[in-house]
Amino acid sequence: MIIAIDGPAASGKGTISKRLAAHYGLRHLDTGLLYRAVAKAVLDAGRSPDDSAAAMAATFGLDPARYDEAALKTAAVGSAASVVSAFPQVRDALLAFQRDFAAHAAGAVLDGRDIGTVICPDAEVKIFVTATPEVRAGRRAAEYRGQGHDVDDAAVLADIRARDERDTGRAAAPLKQAADAHLLDTTDLDIDAAIRAAIDIVEATRAGRGRG
Ligand code: C5P
Repeated sequence: MIIAIDGPAASGKGTISKRLAAHYGLRHLDTGLLYRAVAKAVLDAGRSPDDSAAAMAATFGLDPARYDEAALKTAAVGSAASVVSAFPQVRDALLAFQRDFAAHAAGAVLDGRDIGTVICPDAEVKIFVTATPEVRAGRRAAEYRGQGHDVDDAAVLADIRARDERDTGRAAAPLKQAADAHLLDTTDLDIDAAIRAAIDIVEATRAGRGRG
């Protein structure tokens, strides 16, 4: 079984994906980490994320295991990732890795922005996870505070909005809900309720109900 999870930043899709993978005994790929690793390599090389040649060089030299997750999960790397991910050549170069991961016999859970639309259009289960920008910004701010950072709430909300705009507005594989994806709005759900709702969607889909 392939489960495709898409949605905007801080929608809860990462946590939901990890928990679904554990629940069903599937491997999980957070595809955002691939774009974040490209962005980090570009920044570490002292180049700008909108430098397409630098982004391509970083993509071809990419070793996804090179960085630990904490180094990739910073606000600066997230913003830069949403810039490098708009280059079609970067996306094309990362396509095979993601499809190979999904092709594993046991199945997989992949989360990102274009899993249900581009990477795994035939996934058995597709879920589009979303929440209002304000709620997503609140979650992100709490996460940064938990890591001991000083947080400017207005700046976090502005960053979420800017990322939404770049991710939905780009020409190459923009963030959008696949026609056959189930919408899961987590605005009023805590994480446990969101996970229960996601499992219900998977079960309903497997039982042949609830698609669309
Ligand atoms: O999901 P995460 O916030 O880690 O992703 C960082 C950035 O990488 C996103 O803002 C998006 O621009 C890009 N991305 C993408 N396609 C994916 C996953 C992430 O374009 N499948």
